[in-house]
Amino acid sequence: MNEVMNTILHRRSIRRFAPKQIEETALQQILQAGLYAPSAGGRQGVLFAVCQDKEVNERLGKIKRANSHPCMATETSFVSREQPSIADDPKLTNAFYDAPAVITMFAPKNFLFSAEDCALAAENMMLAADTLGIGSCYIGQGWTAFDHPYGQEMLRQWNIPTDHYAIMQLLLGYPREGDKHPTAKPRKEGRIIRIGEGKE
Ligand SMILES: Cc1cc2nc3c(=O)[nH]c(=O)nc-3n(C[C@H](O)[C@H](O)[C@H](O)COP(=O)(O)O)c2cc1C
Repeated sequence: MNEVMNTILHRRSIRRFAPKQIEETALQQILQAGLYAPSAGGRQGVLFAVCQDKEVNERLGKIKRANSHPCMATETSFVSREQPSIADDPKLTNAFYDAPAVITMFAPKNFLFSAEDCALAAENMMLAADTLGIGSCYIGQGWTAFDHPYGQEMLRQWNIPTDHYAIMQLLLGYPREGDKHPTAKPRKEGRIIRIGEGKE
């Protein structure tokens, strides 16, 4: 298998981070991977707000947790046993899991493909992070972290245009020491539908 396939298969969501900040050179490469993602119409409309301020990330992560109402895990239905999410462990109070770097991706409110643009940039960045030994996790419903006067103040301080909204957060950090890299859940059967015989 080539490098790209190996990385795709190796990447897992990481929710337990070492406190150490990520290296600037690695961050630059991850951001470059995001900037080079496809975007609808080639508009390059996604804004990447990189926050490495521990206190700000903690406050926004806690606001987000307070605004999140996930379906809680059961014996048979759960997100991850190895790296529990807020749906798996109600004791988790920070929806950003104390990641040292949190990238909020903003895109225009009135553009049909804003979510897709952010998701594609995020996947590029998660794959780049994996190749650099950095763990990542996609956090959906980005706007919930700002649904509080403190979050609104951050948007003003960061100069986020008012016609943009936070689609998601990408968490980045070195995996916590001693943790085994998570294993992928088995892939569900029957999701590929083949049409035609694949002949010339
Ligand atoms: C659209 C989307 C939203 C997600 N939101 C969250 C989230 O809010 N919190 C979280 O811990 N993980 C979140 N995840 C990560 C998924 O839980 C994770 O990708 C899934 O469990 C599969 O695990 P893997 O990434 O290790 O393959 C999200 C993933 C996607 C694609």
